[in-house]
Amino acid sequence: MPITAEGSTFRLDTAGTSYWFRTTSFGHLEHLYYGPRLDVQPVDAVAFKRSIQIGATVAYDQSDLTYSLDALPLEWSGTGYGDYRYSPIEARLPDGGFASDFTYVSHEIVPGDTPMLDGLPSSYGTDDQCSTLRVDLVDAATAVRLQLFYTVYDAVDVITRRAVLINASGDDDPEYAAQSTGTAAGPLTIRRLLSGSVDLPDRNFRMVTFDGDWIKEAHRHDHPLAAGLVANSSTTGASSNRHNPGFLLAEGGADEDNGWVYGFNLVYSGNHLGLAEVGSHDLVRVALGVNPHCFEWTLQPGERFETPEMVMTFSDAGMNGASHHFHDFVNDHIVRGDWQHRERPVLFNNWEAHFFDFTEKKLLQLARGARDLGVELFVLDDGWFGQRDSDTAGLGDYDVNRRKLPSGLTGFADEIRAMGMEFGLWFEPEMVNEDSDLFRAHPEWAVRAPGRRTTLGRNQLVLDLTNPDVQDYIIESVGSVLDSAGISYVKWDMNRHISDAYSPTLSEQGRFFHSYILGLYRVLDAIFRPRPQILLESCASGGDRFDLGMLCYSPQVWTSDDTDPIERLAIQGGLSYLYPPSCMGAHVSQAPHQQTLRLTPLSTRFNVAAFGVLGYELDLKYLTGLQKKEIREQIAFYKEHRRTFQYGRFSRFDPRKANKIGWQTVARDGSEAVSGFFQTLATANEGYDTLRVTGLDPARRYTVTTRPQYLYLDRFGELLKHILPVTLDPNGPVIRTAGKVYHLTDCVETYQATGALLAAGVMLDNQFMGSGYNEHTRLLGDFGSALYVTTADLTEPPPTGFIRPGRRRKS
Ligand code: DGJ
Repeated sequence: MPITAEGSTFRLDTAGTSYWFRTTSFGHLEHLYYGPRLDVQPVDAVAFKRSIQIGATVAYDQSDLTYSLDALPLEWSGTGYGDYRYSPIEARLPDGGFASDFTYVSHEIVPGDTPMLDGLPSSYGTDDQCSTLRVDLVDAATAVRLQLFYTVYDAVDVITRRAVLINASGDDDPEYAAQSTGTAAGPLTIRRLLSGSVDLPDRNFRMVTFDGDWIKEAHRHDHPLAAGLVANSSTTGASSNRHNPGFLLAEGGADEDNGWVYGFNLVYSGNHLGLAEVGSHDLVRVALGVNPHCFEWTLQPGERFETPEMVMTFSDAGMNGASHHFHDFVNDHIVRGDWQHRERPVLFNNWEAHFFDFTEKKLLQLARGARDLGVELFVLDDGWFGQRDSDTAGLGDYDVNRRKLPSGLTGFADEIRAMGMEFGLWFEPEMVNEDSDLFRAHPEWAVRAPGRRTTLGRNQLVLDLTNPDVQDYIIESVGSVLDSAGISYVKWDMNRHISDAYSPTLSEQGRFFHSYILGLYRVLDAIFRPRPQILLESCASGGDRFDLGMLCYSPQVWTSDDTDPIERLAIQGGLSYLYPPSCMGAHVSQAPHQQTLRLTPLSTRFNVAAFGVLGYELDLKYLTGLQKKEIREQIAFYKEHRRTFQYGRFSRFDPRKANKIGWQTVARDGSEAVSGFFQTLATANEGYDTLRVTGLDPARRYTVTTRPQYLYLDRFGELLKHILPVTLDPNGPVIRTAGKVYHLTDCVETYQATGALLAAGVMLDNQFMGSGYNEHTRLLGDFGSALYVTTADLTEPPPTGFIRPGRRRKS
């Protein structure tokens, strides 16, 4: 049993981790240990020692001067009893004060997960996969109750936590009354209620966060922790591209494969707050939950408030170790329905090709081209409805624009299906343009603060999803479009931060942000639960809402509007610490890239996008026959290795040099691996490069070979004259024409090696450095890259299964 309660101690054990706490003699929950799995008793050795009064602390009770809440590692902390660290709760309790002191009453352990009651999505698992501990606490002075839930996912080494606060003032339940001195009924106002809080002994941690903005999402930042508080927070109304809710705590010296790393995340899509606070006694408080920004929620007697679920993991095998747990958790216990564990189609999206400027004829021509490349799903993006010819009008009016699509949606979708592809459609249902029929009919549905100026983002207003009438309108209008055209994929976009937060239908404005997200979840559930065949890709200007809450509804998320592969290395790489490749939409687009003007090779665009859910998003009419051939081969290759790319064991390598990035994914049965070697900027006279492939059977024999890729003549400019037998103008018509039909192939290397050798690293051939060229020269230059495929020797006995990368310690 992964959860045991013996005496006052609770032991939550997963396959590789242990999380222990106990009740103290005063009834508080004292955190004992979170780390590699330990099967020892008693637990005293790991407990925080207090044989004397700890400094100038406030004593909780004069009977024991060594007992100070400020110096104890706690599982939960209240306010007003001498703990001055950041408390997970700030609430005016029914007695009118802010003090709260929750102490143990009882607990229950049940198999499986426990459903959330208040409209929040949560992780899930069968009775074999998880079990749940509920600890009931009470604030004796007011009879207010707190329930802490811990769900333990054994195989994936994840524990989730959440809190439920119940205003039980006035209630005379005998179980609680025994411990309660005050029972006068009264309202309770929550100003902050985080999902969980835990105090860990400091190991010289740094907090690793994933931050950015539009087109630069999820860049990794490391914040060394020192005395005080580091916050990772969003106040935009969404989980945001500014600060993803997920973060890591990595011990000093930890890297991708070594060291203790804790991971935290939140199953929530709205404003969040995560924090790490180094207190004065070398304990680090980590807490996470709904952001208290503009939050106020009153509970009348008998009412309750449930927090979103906080997710925790631990690995002593570095950041990759923590990421592997998170990846398995998302694939096995967050993503649900028909698309769970299912291979995602290769899609083509018309956005970067057309923006709003398309006709049915243009679309069909594009779709035919996409079909010929091997695409499986054609997605019509923004601009298909109402008067939507730019981003200034039409949002909210989901009637097909017959000028652009004379056959209507149904006719158009039929044409796409007749080509042998599925049809997908874009919506932005949470928003409205002032210039729209919806706004003219219902101006009161737009979020605006009365008596104040209205602020627009991307020329649009937010619809008031706290209002059930608005929710119903969206459920009805989107649902009927979906049914009218047999749509099998939806891109659900959301393109602005919330401002002017106010709703006339709310009893208190402090509910706005959380109610908005609850409204969104209700809408998503009502639309997509009855239509489980639809693949939902959530999007918010790219990755403005890439979180575990959205992943409960949408198995994949459009990662970023940035399709430049060099930028994507940071974006997909950053998100990979928290989320698996199976949920990252990744497209190949035209270069120079619309976001950066950077010119990158088509091969690199594919090599990066392949480590996600592959799509294409470009105008095919400007491609040469050769480029189309290359794309056709890319798609065929991706399909061949799709399961490995989407569901393999994905890992990052610590960069040996700042300009080199290495990724790999290993098939779950150990039969193959695909590695990506990426070079951002070339440096002159490059040194050696190695290819490491980890996680394979050390004794087994493998063949590793470069995936052949095209090198176009225009990459070499005047250098061509040195390798051609005749002298030709490198910019002249002959070379330009030749460049459309002829390409070089980059150096292909093939090695046979054991898994052990591959883990140590294969030395690759030299890179071009201006001193010669032959078929053994790797021609990477700026933004060059290559994929390497490792396959197990089939003459050997089959592997025994997936092997975790070795737990190497640094010497
Ligand atoms: C933002 C999305 O991220 C883009 O991919 C595209 O769908 C546009 N919105 C359309 O307006």
